[in-house]
Amino acid sequence: MKWKTAIITVSDSGFQGTREDKSGPMIRRLLEEAGEYEIIREELVPDDQEKLEEVLCTCADTEGADLILTTGGTGFSKRDRTPEATMNTATRNAPGIAEAMRALSLRVTPRAMLSRGASVIRNETLIVNLPGSPKAVKECLEFILPSLPHGLGILKGLDGECGGTAS
Ligand code: MTE
Repeated sequence: MKWKTAIITVSDSGFQGTREDKSGPMIRRLLEEAGEYEIIREELVPDDQEKLEEVLCTCADTEGADLILTTGGTGFSKRDRTPEATMNTATRNAPGIAEAMRALSLRVTPRAMLSRGASVIRNETLIVNLPGSPKAVKECLEFILPSLPHGLGILKGLDGECGGTAS
């Protein structure tokens, strides 16, 4: 089974075409290498909270995404509203993934503390905010990918017990 996944790049400059999006393609490459993901949507959106909320809800509610990965807009600049948009679409919190990414990232750069990325559940969809740079995307996604299928399986009612060897 492949997990239906949407990749959303949140970037004013990317949306305006003034900066090439390298992070979205990085996510695609890592998902293809992992092999368990079917990419159902790849979209570049501006740093606009309302628009992002709309896209996240459509991906989850209409397009049936199991997983939505966003990149960008998690920092401190005024237009960075990805976490707020994500939290507004949540039906339940799932903070451990965002916490895990920051914990790992702090070993790479203390500036990881400046990423406000969130991870939440919307009904049966997992939404995870990745930082904006391709380097950060690679570092974070490689770290969390091995655990996502178990979480998605539980979320979809396909995985039962968490016993057995921790992988
Ligand atoms: N996380 C990792 N793994 N590697 C990084 O280089 N950059 C940090 C942080 N998280 C970084 C990281 C920096 S410098 C910032 S400003 C925040 O991500 C927010 O980045 P964003 O605004 O591109 O989302």
